[in-house]
Amino acid sequence: MSDKKAPVIIGSDHAAFELKEKIKAFLVGQGIPVEDVGTSGTESVDYPDYGKQVASQVSAGRFPRGILLCGTGLGMSMVANRFPGVRAALCHDLFGAMMARKHNDANILVLGGRVTGDILAVEIVTAWLQTPFENGRHQNRLDQFNQGV
Ligand code: RB5
Repeated sequence: MSDKKAPVIIGSDHAAFELKEKIKAFLVGQGIPVEDVGTSGTESVDYPDYGKQVASQVSAGRFPRGILLCGTGLGMSMVANRFPGVRAALCHDLFGAMMARKHNDANILVLGGRVTGDILAVEIVTAWLQTPFENGRHQNRLDQFNQGV
């Protein structure tokens, strides 16, 4: 995931719809192509429907990275991490976002729309997009669970 302008696939449920729209506008403004799987409004929906769409495409290698959002970020994390090759990281702060890349090579960033404010969320996205994986011993550790346990 070294290409900083690589496309991002994004999805949320109703609880994080507004934050998704803000993140999407930010990414487009950065010249990053965005594939939005929905949801498309604040009407109640089921987060697994959207989590599966994003995680399956990252798992299949059709997108190098994805962003998922729900109210807490917890449900989306649980869904996404069931897919082979997905390393989804729920991040609440900049340190977590950087470490999720440096040590965990997180290919899906998860945010909680009811937890994290808009401005911090954009900073977290920026840190996650810009921080490279450190490789080395961290790759060895990823290899221990990348294809399941
Ligand atoms: C929706 O009410 C809420 O349960 C969902 O957005 C998420 O927080 C689940 O983990």
